[in-house]
Amino acid sequence: MGNSDSVTRLGVFTSGGDAPGMNACIRSTVRTAIARGLEVVGLRRGFAGLLEDDFVEMDLSSVSNVVQHGGTILKSSRCMEMYAPGGREAAAKKLREHGIDALVPIGGDGTFHGAHLLWEEHGVRSVGTPGTIDADLFGSDSSIGFDTAVNTALDAIDKLRDTAESHDRLFFVEVMGRHAGYLALEVGIAGGAEAVLLPERDLPLEALADQLLAGKRRGKTSHLVVVAEGDQAGGAFEIAKRVGELAEMDYRVCILGHVQRGGSPTARDRVLASRLGAAAVDALLAGETDKMAGEVGGQVVLTPYEETWVKKKPISPEMLDLAGTLAM
Ligand code: F6P
Repeated sequence: MGNSDSVTRLGVFTSGGDAPGMNACIRSTVRTAIARGLEVVGLRRGFAGLLEDDFVEMDLSSVSNVVQHGGTILKSSRCMEMYAPGGREAAAKKLREHGIDALVPIGGDGTFHGAHLLWEEHGVRSVGTPGTIDADLFGSDSSIGFDTAVNTALDAIDKLRDTAESHDRLFFVEVMGRHAGYLALEVGIAGGAEAVLLPERDLPLEALADQLLAGKRRGKTSHLVVVAEGDQAGGAFEIAKRVGELAEMDYRVCILGHVQRGGSPTARDRVLASRLGAAAVDALLAGETDKMAGEVGGQVVLTPYEETWVKKKPISPEMLDLAGTLAM
């Protein structure tokens, strides 16, 4: 265990919410592993496929012509069995039966929880990559899919601004991010939002209504508020109703939802995914385990799985300030 010599057959899988760029990461993992002389097996539907013997042998051509596609060729799932010790024991047994020595999980904190417990309880080696549109994992500035999701949301916001402007309306746009406001903040700044509501910050709705009214008095004719899905004040519909009433403004709500999870990955996401997939393979071969390969300040860094969810990735105060200043 922990011996790099023991890696001959590698398992790769995508798990949790899918994210554009996962295919680029699978491709990079498979091709790097083959280049280093390893066999590679794809586990379909994440941990669920592992428990149900849903495996696919991967060769160089299994990942041809996938880099530009959204979704994941290996499919994904959220596997509740992995939260129970019995499920993890069954998963470790399947890996032994199929001769899989190590894993590259591509996913978010739920995926890494599972991988961490597989290492702790059963010595299953893995180095993961952050595949989630939320960019909420400590140990990586961005994550695979985040940049694409920002651009998808931005495209929608630009279109909403057109209709908001035509009708002198207030729009509330809800973006994804159950526990995290990184996506909302980037989209808010890039889309010129009048306000951004994040789970990490408490903004009283009375203050928001006053701010919108002040803008209106200064001559603003359209107003756009970006709401992160997990905002403390509630969902976009509830917030819109309260603020609309307080400000006495005509409002509409748009929930962008799963649209943000699809589409062809941006160049940034493809490159990030390619770098991190290769880094995960090389880290395993160097004897690493129980870690995520992320990118910080342009450099690939390894962070213990547990730190990726225990340590809080701060929302940049500078970005928050900027969003406030530019919204005036
Ligand atoms: O974690 C990624 C994410 O898209 C979150 O932003 C969102 O809250 C959640 O997944 C939605 O999950 P599901 O696709 O299971 O509804």
